[in-house]
Amino acid sequence: MKFFIDTANLDQIKEANDLGILDGVTTNPTLMAKEGIKGTAAINAHYKAICEIVDGPVSAEVLSTTFDEMIAEGKVLAAIHPNIVVKIPMIKDGIKAIKWFTDNGIKTNCTLVFSAGQAILAAKAGATFVSPFIGRVDDSNWDGVQLIEDIVSIYNAQGYLTEVLAASIRTPLHIVKCAEAGADVCTCPLSSILGLLKHPLTDLGLQQFIKDAQNMQ
Ligand code: E4P
Repeated sequence: MKFFIDTANLDQIKEANDLGILDGVTTNPTLMAKEGIKGTAAINAHYKAICEIVDGPVSAEVLSTTFDEMIAEGKVLAAIHPNIVVKIPMIKDGIKAIKWFTDNGIKTNCTLVFSAGQAILAAKAGATFVSPFIGRVDDSNWDGVQLIEDIVSIYNAQGYLTEVLAASIRTPLHIVKCAEAGADVCTCPLSSILGLLKHPLTDLGLQQFIKDAQNMQ
């Protein structure tokens, strides 16, 4: 399973990238706004800066919702860097736009996916990635990991090439469960990635090893 970081914060992207396990980045308008980025020039410069840190797919989301506008916006985003993936919402015009980008060799990430039916449409349109939001599914009292399992099983049965990108990750356990479910990619906050490191027995064991190592010197 590939690891993407789900943030527009350059320090966090650098920190995750320095671990050596980062495969890409996802952003969304909320994450970009959180960094105080405003205006097309600043937005595009920020995506360029992210692409210069991480050597892998960087999802940049369109801000419009009509076919013509999404195509125009997506073309500009895709021209920023070869690693840019145009992130398109799961709406009717979005599916048309994904098909258009697929036909024109531009990679896409279909976002705001909450059902297997939506994931089938995204794959039919040729999306490079589909992003089921599992944390938000859990928040609504449904089972987000089950959704990943359902989509993975459908894609395998049908031979769809779209990669299942588990999004809206809230915990390290979400990451483990998505790996079990067969997700191709997990996009996570830095805290969830770092949470994977933690185990009290590791800390206790290391303390003991450090103590014993001192006795050996
Ligand atoms: C996915 O690409 C989205 O940016 C993200 O995972 C949404 O997560 P949230 O539900 O924590 O906002």
